[in-house]
Amino acid sequence: MNQKVSGSEQLKGSITLPPDKSISHRAAMFAAIADGVSVIDNYSAAADPQDTLTCLRQLGVPVKQEGSRVTIEGVGRNGLKDPSEDLDCGNSGTTMRLMAGILAGAGVTCRLVGDDSLSSRTMRRIIDPLNEMGASVTGRDNIYAPLEIAPGTGIRGMSYPLPIASAQLKSAVLLAGLFGDTQTEVIESVPSRDHTERLLNLPVKETSGERSIFSSREVEIPLQSYQVPGDFSAAAFWLVAGSVHPNAEIKMKNVGLNPSRTAALKILQEMGADIEIKYSSDEGPEPMGTVTVRSSQLRAISLQPELIPNSIDELPVLMVAMCFAEGRSEIVGAEELRHKETDRLEAMAKVLEAAGETFETKPGGIEIQGRGPHIPHAGRFESEHDHRIAMSAAVMALMADTGQVSTILNSEATAISYPKFWEDLAYLSGLRETIV
Ligand code: S3P
Repeated sequence: MNQKVSGSEQLKGSITLPPDKSISHRAAMFAAIADGVSVIDNYSAAADPQDTLTCLRQLGVPVKQEGSRVTIEGVGRNGLKDPSEDLDCGNSGTTMRLMAGILAGAGVTCRLVGDDSLSSRTMRRIIDPLNEMGASVTGRDNIYAPLEIAPGTGIRGMSYPLPIASAQLKSAVLLAGLFGDTQTEVIESVPSRDHTERLLNLPVKETSGERSIFSSREVEIPLQSYQVPGDFSAAAFWLVAGSVHPNAEIKMKNVGLNPSRTAALKILQEMGADIEIKYSSDEGPEPMGTVTVRSSQLRAISLQPELIPNSIDELPVLMVAMCFAEGRSEIVGAEELRHKETDRLEAMAKVLEAAGETFETKPGGIEIQGRGPHIPHAGRFESEHDHRIAMSAAVMALMADTGQVSTILNSEATAISYPKFWEDLAYLSGLRETIV
Protein backbone atom coordinates (compact mmCIF):
# COMPACT_ATOMS: atom_id res chain seq x y z
CA MET A 1 0.00 0.00 0.00
CA ASN A 2 1.13 3.55 -0.72
CA GLN A 3 -0.27 6.41 1.33
CA LYS A 4 -0.80 9.93 -0.01
CA VAL A 5 -0.10 12.75 2.46
CA SER A 6 -0.81 16.41 1.68
CA GLY A 7 0.99 19.35 3.14
CA SER A 8 -1.39 20.37 5.91
CA GLU A 9 -2.82 23.74 6.92
CA GLN A 10 -3.12 22.60 10.50
CA LEU A 11 -2.39 19.86 13.00
CA LYS A 12 -5.02 20.17 15.70
CA GLY A 13 -6.94 17.92 18.02
CA SER A 14 -6.83 15.41 20.82
CA ILE A 15 -5.81 11.80 20.16
CA THR A 16 -5.45 8.52 22.00
CA LEU A 17 -2.15 6.85 21.23
CA PRO A 18 -1.68 3.14 20.64
CA PRO A 19 -0.71 1.20 23.78
CA ASP A 20 3.02 0.94 24.46
CA LYS A 21 4.60 -1.83 22.42
CA SER A 22 7.56 -2.54 24.74
CA ILE A 23 5.32 -2.77 27.81
CA SER A 24 2.65 -4.87 26.04
CA HIS A 25 5.23 -7.52 25.05
CA ARG A 26 6.62 -7.70 28.55
CA ALA A 27 3.26 -7.69 30.32
CA ALA A 28 2.17 -10.73 28.27
CA MET A 29 5.43 -12.66 28.60
CA PHE A 30 5.77 -12.03 32.34
CA ALA A 31 2.10 -12.86 32.95
CA ALA A 32 2.64 -16.15 31.10
CA ILE A 33 5.36 -17.32 33.50
CA ALA A 34 3.71 -15.94 36.65
CA ASP A 35 1.58 -18.16 38.91
CA GLY A 36 -1.99 -16.86 38.62
CA VAL A 37 -4.25 -14.84 36.37
CA SER A 38 -3.22 -11.42 35.03
CA VAL A 39 -5.65 -8.99 33.41
CA ILE A 40 -3.80 -6.56 31.16
CA ASP A 41 -5.83 -3.54 30.10
CA ASN A 42 -5.12 -1.49 26.98
CA TYR A 43 -2.99 -4.21 25.35
CA SER A 44 -1.63 -3.22 21.96
CA ALA A 45 -3.47 -4.33 18.81
CA ALA A 46 -0.32 -3.67 16.76
CA ALA A 47 1.28 -6.53 14.84
CA ASP A 48 4.38 -6.98 17.02
CA PRO A 49 2.67 -7.41 20.41
CA GLN A 50 0.01 -9.58 18.75
CA ASP A 51 2.80 -11.88 17.51
CA THR A 52 3.92 -12.25 21.12
CA LEU A 53 0.41 -13.41 22.11
CA THR A 54 0.37 -15.95 19.27
CA CYS A 55 3.72 -17.37 20.39
CA LEU A 56 2.50 -17.67 23.99
CA ARG A 57 -0.63 -19.56 22.88
CA GLN A 58 1.59 -21.98 20.93
CA LEU A 59 3.55 -22.55 24.14
CA GLY A 60 0.38 -23.71 25.88
CA VAL A 61 -0.44 -20.49 27.73
CA PRO A 62 -4.19 -19.70 27.96
CA VAL A 63 -4.55 -16.20 26.49
CA LYS A 64 -7.94 -14.54 26.06
CA GLN A 65 -8.38 -11.24 24.24
CA GLU A 66 -11.57 -9.17 24.46
CA GLY A 67 -11.12 -5.80 22.80
CA SER A 68 -7.99 -4.33 24.33
CA ARG A 69 -8.24 -6.45 27.50
CA VAL A 70 -6.00 -9.51 27.59
CA THR A 71 -6.40 -12.15 30.27
CA ILE A 72 -3.52 -14.57 30.74
CA GLU A 73 -3.55 -17.64 32.96
CA GLY A 74 0.07 -17.89 33.99
CA VAL A 75 1.55 -21.38 33.77
CA GLY A 76 4.50 -20.60 36.06
CA ARG A 77 8.18 -20.81 35.20
CA ASN A 78 8.04 -24.53 34.49
CA GLY A 79 4.70 -24.74 32.70
CA LEU A 80 5.64 -23.77 29.13
CA LYS A 81 5.14 -26.60 26.61
CA ASP A 82 7.23 -27.45 23.56
CA PRO A 83 5.30 -25.97 20.60
CA SER A 84 4.41 -28.26 17.70
CA GLU A 85 5.30 -25.58 15.12
CA ASP A 86 7.78 -22.75 14.67
CA LEU A 87 7.20 -19.66 16.80
CA ASP A 88 6.82 -16.80 14.32
CA CYS A 89 8.08 -13.51 15.75
CA GLY A 90 7.22 -11.65 12.52
CA ASN A 91 9.01 -8.29 12.43
CA SER A 92 9.50 -8.09 16.18
CA GLY A 93 13.01 -8.00 17.65
CA THR A 94 11.60 -7.66 21.17
CA THR A 95 9.51 -10.84 20.76
CA MET A 96 12.46 -12.84 19.48
CA ARG A 97 15.11 -11.60 21.90
CA LEU A 98 13.04 -11.59 25.09
CA MET A 99 11.26 -14.84 24.27
CA ALA A 100 14.64 -16.47 23.57
CA GLY A 101 15.75 -15.52 27.10
CA ILE A 102 12.67 -17.09 28.67
CA LEU A 103 12.62 -20.21 26.47
CA ALA A 104 16.35 -20.83 26.82
CA GLY A 105 15.98 -20.52 30.59
CA ALA A 106 12.96 -22.81 30.69
CA GLY A 107 14.66 -25.39 28.45
CA VAL A 108 11.83 -25.46 25.92
CA THR A 109 12.61 -27.16 22.60
CA CYS A 110 11.52 -24.83 19.80
CA ARG A 111 12.46 -22.77 16.79
CA LEU A 112 12.01 -18.99 16.59
CA VAL A 113 11.57 -17.58 13.09
CA GLY A 114 10.96 -14.08 11.74
CA ASP A 115 10.28 -12.12 8.55
CA ASP A 116 13.07 -11.07 6.15
CA SER A 117 13.94 -7.97 8.17
CA LEU A 118 14.13 -9.82 11.50
CA SER A 119 16.04 -12.70 9.88
CA SER A 120 18.75 -10.27 8.80
CA ARG A 121 19.24 -8.66 12.24
CA THR A 122 22.00 -9.98 14.45
CA MET A 123 20.97 -12.37 17.22
CA ARG A 124 24.61 -13.06 18.10
CA ARG A 125 24.36 -10.54 20.91
CA ILE A 126 21.89 -12.80 22.74
CA ILE A 127 23.11 -16.21 21.52
CA ASP A 128 26.56 -15.81 23.10
CA PRO A 129 25.58 -14.76 26.64
CA LEU A 130 22.66 -17.21 26.81
CA ASN A 131 24.96 -20.11 25.89
CA GLU A 132 27.53 -18.85 28.38
CA MET A 133 24.82 -19.21 31.04
CA GLY A 134 24.31 -22.88 30.13
CA ALA A 135 21.46 -22.55 27.62
CA SER A 136 21.44 -24.15 24.19
CA VAL A 137 20.72 -21.58 21.47
CA THR A 138 21.94 -21.84 17.91
CA GLY A 139 21.30 -19.56 14.98
CA ARG A 140 21.84 -19.60 11.24
CA ASP A 141 25.60 -19.00 10.81
CA ASN A 142 25.49 -18.62 14.59
CA ILE A 143 24.26 -15.07 14.04
CA TYR A 144 20.76 -14.95 12.58
CA ALA A 145 17.27 -16.37 13.02
CA PRO A 146 15.93 -19.03 12.81
CA LEU A 147 17.01 -19.69 16.39
CA GLU A 148 16.93 -23.28 17.62
CA ILE A 149 16.47 -23.58 21.36
CA ALA A 150 16.88 -26.84 23.30
CA PRO A 151 17.34 -27.78 26.95
CA GLY A 152 20.91 -26.90 27.89
CA THR A 153 22.84 -27.82 30.98
CA GLY A 154 20.75 -25.63 33.30
CA ILE A 155 21.10 -21.89 33.84
CA ARG A 156 24.12 -20.69 35.81
CA GLY A 157 23.96 -17.13 37.04
CA MET A 158 26.65 -14.80 35.77
CA SER A 159 27.82 -11.24 36.08
CA TYR A 160 27.40 -9.63 32.67
CA PRO A 161 28.57 -6.11 31.80
CA LEU A 162 26.43 -5.13 28.79
CA PRO A 163 28.67 -4.71 25.73
CA ILE A 164 25.91 -2.73 23.94
CA ALA A 165 23.36 -0.39 25.53
CA SER A 166 20.36 -2.53 24.55
CA ALA A 167 17.24 -3.16 26.62
CA GLN A 168 16.50 -6.27 24.56
CA LEU A 169 19.88 -7.79 25.37
CA LYS A 170 19.64 -6.76 29.03
CA SER A 171 16.19 -8.33 29.22
CA ALA A 172 17.14 -11.58 27.47
CA VAL A 173 19.92 -12.21 30.00
CA LEU A 174 17.81 -11.22 33.02
CA LEU A 175 14.90 -13.39 31.85
CA ALA A 176 17.14 -16.45 31.44
CA GLY A 177 18.53 -15.53 34.85
CA LEU A 178 15.03 -16.04 36.36
CA PHE A 179 15.63 -19.79 35.84
CA GLY A 180 19.04 -19.91 37.55
CA ASP A 181 19.71 -21.22 41.04
CA THR A 182 22.52 -18.71 41.32
CA GLN A 183 22.16 -15.00 40.77
CA THR A 184 22.58 -13.21 37.44
CA GLU A 185 23.79 -9.62 37.48
CA VAL A 186 23.55 -7.39 34.42
CA ILE A 187 25.64 -4.24 34.61
CA GLU A 188 24.88 -1.25 32.41
CA SER A 189 27.00 1.86 32.17
CA VAL A 190 24.59 3.70 29.85
CA PRO A 191 21.02 3.07 31.05
CA SER A 192 18.48 1.73 28.57
CA ARG A 193 14.69 1.43 29.00
CA ASP A 194 13.94 -0.19 32.36
CA HIS A 195 10.51 -1.83 31.78
CA THR A 196 11.80 -5.35 32.49
CA GLU A 197 13.27 -4.55 35.91
CA ARG A 198 10.30 -2.31 36.77
CA LEU A 199 7.55 -4.79 35.81
CA LEU A 200 9.35 -7.77 37.39
CA ASN A 201 10.30 -5.70 40.40
CA LEU A 202 13.91 -6.87 40.13
CA PRO A 203 16.52 -5.63 42.61
CA VAL A 204 18.58 -2.76 41.20
CA LYS A 205 21.76 -1.26 42.62
CA GLU A 206 23.07 2.06 41.37
CA THR A 207 26.62 3.21 41.95
CA SER A 208 28.36 6.15 40.36
CA GLY A 209 28.16 5.64 36.63
CA GLU A 210 26.86 2.04 36.78
CA ARG A 211 23.60 0.24 37.31
CA SER A 212 23.34 -3.45 38.27
CA ILE A 213 20.12 -5.45 37.90
CA PHE A 214 19.75 -8.90 39.48
CA SER A 215 17.60 -11.93 38.72
CA SER A 216 17.40 -15.55 39.89
CA ARG A 217 14.91 -18.33 40.55
CA GLU A 218 14.27 -16.64 43.93
CA VAL A 219 12.45 -13.74 42.27
CA GLU A 220 8.68 -14.05 42.56
CA ILE A 221 7.19 -13.03 39.23
CA PRO A 222 4.45 -10.44 39.87
CA LEU A 223 1.04 -10.70 38.18
CA GLN A 224 0.74 -8.13 35.39
CA SER A 225 -2.68 -6.59 36.04
CA TYR A 226 -2.52 -2.93 35.05
CA GLN A 227 -3.31 -0.55 32.22
CA VAL A 228 -0.63 -0.29 29.55
CA PRO A 229 0.15 3.42 28.92
CA GLY A 230 0.05 5.04 25.49
CA ASP A 231 3.27 4.55 23.54
CA PHE A 232 5.72 7.40 24.03
CA SER A 233 7.48 6.37 20.82
CA ALA A 234 4.19 6.93 18.95
CA ALA A 235 3.72 10.28 20.73
CA ALA A 236 7.14 11.36 19.45
CA PHE A 237 5.87 11.65 15.86
CA TRP A 238 3.25 14.16 16.98
CA LEU A 239 5.62 15.94 19.39
CA VAL A 240 7.87 16.68 16.42
CA ALA A 241 5.03 17.41 13.97
CA GLY A 242 3.34 19.70 16.51
CA SER A 243 6.59 21.53 17.26
CA VAL A 244 7.66 22.22 13.69
CA HIS A 245 4.26 22.86 12.09
CA PRO A 246 3.28 26.56 12.27
CA ASN A 247 -0.38 25.92 13.09
CA ALA A 248 -0.44 23.07 15.59
CA GLU A 249 -1.88 22.11 18.96
CA ILE A 250 -2.01 18.37 19.69
CA LYS A 251 -3.12 16.84 22.97
CA MET A 252 -2.37 13.22 23.91
CA LYS A 253 -3.75 11.49 27.00
CA ASN A 254 -2.32 8.58 29.03
CA VAL A 255 1.10 8.85 27.43
CA GLY A 256 3.77 6.62 28.99
CA LEU A 257 6.27 8.92 30.72
CA ASN A 258 8.83 6.45 32.05
CA PRO A 259 11.99 8.59 32.32
CA SER A 260 14.06 5.83 30.71
CA ARG A 261 11.99 6.32 27.54
CA THR A 262 11.44 10.06 27.32
CA ALA A 263 14.82 11.53 26.40
CA ALA A 264 13.20 12.81 23.19
CA LEU A 265 10.93 14.98 25.31
CA LYS A 266 13.89 16.66 26.99
CA ILE A 267 15.74 16.90 23.69
CA LEU A 268 12.80 18.69 22.05
CA GLN A 269 12.36 20.97 25.07
CA GLU A 270 16.05 21.85 24.92
CA MET A 271 15.53 22.64 21.24
CA GLY A 272 12.83 25.11 22.32
CA ALA A 273 9.68 23.03 21.84
CA ASP A 274 6.49 24.12 23.60
CA ILE A 275 5.40 20.93 25.39
CA GLU A 276 3.10 20.86 28.42
CA ILE A 277 3.04 17.76 30.64
CA LYS A 278 0.49 16.84 33.32
CA TYR A 279 1.33 13.64 35.20
CA SER A 280 -1.65 11.44 36.16
CA SER A 281 -2.10 11.00 39.88
CA ASP A 282 -3.00 7.27 39.95
CA GLU A 283 0.20 5.76 38.65
CA GLY A 284 0.59 2.02 38.04
CA PRO A 285 4.03 0.48 37.66
CA GLU A 286 4.69 2.89 34.76
CA PRO A 287 4.16 6.67 35.00
CA MET A 288 1.86 8.36 32.51
CA GLY A 289 0.22 11.71 31.83
CA THR A 290 -1.29 14.13 29.36
CA VAL A 291 1.04 15.83 26.92
CA THR A 292 0.18 18.86 24.79
CA VAL A 293 2.44 20.23 22.09
CA ARG A 294 2.12 23.56 20.31
CA SER A 295 3.92 25.21 17.38
CA SER A 296 7.35 26.55 18.24
CA GLN A 297 10.66 27.63 16.73
CA LEU A 298 13.41 25.09 17.29
CA ARG A 299 17.16 25.53 17.82
CA ALA A 300 19.85 23.08 16.71
CA ILE A 301 21.15 20.49 19.16
CA SER A 302 24.07 18.09 19.51
CA LEU A 303 22.97 14.61 20.66
CA GLN A 304 25.83 12.82 22.39
CA PRO A 305 26.14 9.03 22.93
CA GLU A 306 24.73 9.00 26.50
CA LEU A 307 21.36 10.28 25.21
CA ILE A 308 21.07 7.68 22.45
CA PRO A 309 19.72 4.54 24.24
CA ASN A 310 16.79 6.44 25.76
CA SER A 311 15.83 8.07 22.48
CA ILE A 312 16.85 5.30 20.05
CA ASP A 313 13.40 4.76 18.50
CA GLU A 314 12.73 8.50 18.32
CA LEU A 315 15.94 9.41 16.47
CA PRO A 316 14.43 9.09 12.96
CA VAL A 317 11.71 11.63 13.70
CA LEU A 318 14.13 13.82 15.70
CA MET A 319 16.10 14.07 12.44
CA VAL A 320 13.00 15.65 10.90
CA ALA A 321 12.86 18.12 13.82
CA MET A 322 16.52 19.00 13.22
CA CYS A 323 15.76 19.95 9.61
CA PHE A 324 13.37 22.66 10.90
CA ALA A 325 15.68 23.95 13.64
CA GLU A 326 17.98 26.96 13.22
CA GLY A 327 21.58 25.81 12.85
CA ARG A 328 23.61 22.64 12.51
CA SER A 329 22.50 19.64 14.58
CA GLU A 330 24.27 16.33 15.01
CA ILE A 331 23.63 12.83 16.34
CA VAL A 332 26.74 11.05 17.60
CA GLY A 333 27.24 7.43 18.74
CA ALA A 334 24.06 6.03 17.20
CA GLU A 335 25.47 3.11 15.15
CA GLU A 336 22.74 0.94 16.71
CA LEU A 337 20.37 2.68 14.28
CA ARG A 338 21.94 0.57 11.56
CA HIS A 339 20.68 -2.63 13.28
CA LYS A 340 16.98 -1.84 13.55
CA GLU A 341 14.12 -3.01 11.29
CA THR A 342 16.16 -1.28 8.56
CA ASP A 343 19.44 0.61 8.58
CA ARG A 344 17.65 3.69 9.87
CA LEU A 345 20.52 6.07 9.16
CA GLU A 346 20.46 5.14 5.49
CA ALA A 347 16.67 5.00 5.31
CA MET A 348 16.33 8.48 6.85
CA ALA A 349 19.05 9.84 4.58
CA LYS A 350 16.84 8.87 1.63
CA VAL A 351 13.82 10.57 3.20
CA LEU A 352 15.74 13.77 3.92
CA GLU A 353 17.19 13.77 0.44
CA ALA A 354 13.76 13.38 -1.17
CA ALA A 355 12.58 16.37 0.91
CA GLY A 356 15.52 18.51 -0.28
CA GLU A 357 17.25 18.79 3.12
CA THR A 358 20.98 19.34 3.72
CA PHE A 359 22.78 16.69 5.76
CA GLU A 360 25.73 14.32 5.94
CA THR A 361 25.56 10.78 7.29
CA LYS A 362 28.43 9.39 9.38
CA PRO A 363 29.16 5.76 10.32
CA GLY A 364 27.49 6.33 13.71
CA GLY A 365 25.22 9.29 13.17
CA ILE A 366 24.29 12.27 11.07
CA GLU A 367 24.84 16.03 10.78
CA ILE A 368 21.89 18.11 9.64
CA GLN A 369 22.03 21.71 8.51
CA GLY A 370 18.73 23.00 9.85
CA ARG A 371 16.94 25.53 7.66
CA GLY A 372 14.61 26.87 10.36
CA PRO A 373 10.93 27.13 9.40
CA HIS A 374 10.66 26.28 5.70
CA ILE A 375 8.62 24.31 3.19
CA PRO A 376 10.25 21.03 2.17
CA HIS A 377 9.65 19.29 -1.15
CA ALA A 378 6.71 16.96 -1.42
CA GLY A 379 8.00 13.66 -2.80
CA ARG A 380 7.98 9.90 -2.96
CA PHE A 381 9.27 8.60 0.33
CA GLU A 382 10.42 4.98 0.62
CA SER A 383 9.59 3.51 4.04
CA GLU A 384 11.73 0.42 3.41
CA HIS A 385 8.86 -1.46 5.13
CA ASP A 386 9.96 0.13 8.42
CA HIS A 387 7.14 1.55 10.56
CA ARG A 388 9.19 4.34 12.11
CA ILE A 389 10.59 5.45 8.75
CA ALA A 390 7.07 5.55 7.25
CA MET A 391 5.82 7.74 10.12
CA SER A 392 8.88 10.03 10.10
CA ALA A 393 8.43 10.53 6.35
CA ALA A 394 4.76 11.32 6.95
CA VAL A 395 5.71 14.08 9.41
CA MET A 396 8.02 15.52 6.77
CA ALA A 397 5.24 15.26 4.14
CA LEU A 398 2.82 17.22 6.38
CA MET A 399 5.22 20.18 6.21
CA ALA A 400 5.10 20.48 2.40
CA ASP A 401 3.13 23.30 0.81
CA THR A 402 -0.61 23.01 1.47
CA GLY A 403 -2.12 20.66 -1.04
CA GLN A 404 1.25 19.37 -2.32
CA VAL A 405 0.94 15.60 -2.21
CA SER A 406 3.66 13.18 -1.12
CA THR A 407 3.54 9.40 -1.36
CA ILE A 408 4.76 7.13 1.42
CA LEU A 409 5.62 3.78 -0.12
CA ASN A 410 4.74 0.56 1.72
CA SER A 411 2.86 2.62 4.27
CA GLU A 412 1.14 -0.46 5.79
CA ALA A 413 4.34 -0.87 7.85
CA THR A 414 2.80 1.49 10.43
CA ALA A 415 0.62 -1.45 11.62
CA ILE A 416 3.73 -2.84 13.35
CA SER A 417 3.39 -0.31 16.19
CA TYR A 418 0.64 2.23 15.35
CA PRO A 419 -2.28 0.73 13.38
CA LYS A 420 -4.36 3.96 13.43
CA PHE A 421 -1.54 6.29 12.43
CA TRP A 422 -3.01 7.32 9.08
CA GLU A 423 -6.43 7.94 10.64
CA ASP A 424 -4.91 10.12 13.36
CA LEU A 425 -2.95 12.01 10.70
CA ALA A 426 -6.11 12.68 8.67
CA TYR A 427 -7.99 13.77 11.80
CA LEU A 428 -5.26 16.15 13.01
CA SER A 429 -4.96 17.62 9.51
CA GLY A 430 -8.67 18.46 9.65
CA LEU A 431 -9.53 16.00 6.88
CA ARG A 432 -11.79 13.87 9.06
CA GLU A 433 -14.46 14.95 11.55
CA THR A 434 -13.70 12.34 14.21
CA ILE A 435 -11.32 9.50 14.63
CA VAL A 436 -12.90 6.23 13.49
C1 S3P B 1 13.12 -2.32 22.84
C2 S3P B 1 14.44 -1.94 22.90
C3 S3P B 1 15.13 -1.21 21.84
C4 S3P B 1 14.13 -0.56 20.89
C5 S3P B 1 13.03 -1.49 20.49
C6 S3P B 1 12.26 -1.98 21.71
C7 S3P B 1 12.55 -3.08 23.97
O1 S3P B 1 15.93 -2.11 21.09
O2 S3P B 1 14.78 -0.08 19.75
O3 S3P B 1 12.14 -0.86 19.61
O4 S3P B 1 11.32 -3.19 24.04
O5 S3P B 1 13.33 -3.56 24.80
P1 S3P B 1 17.45 -2.44 21.51
O6 S3P B 1 17.44 -3.15 22.79
O7 S3P B 1 17.97 -3.31 20.40
O8 S3P B 1 18.15 -1.11 21.57
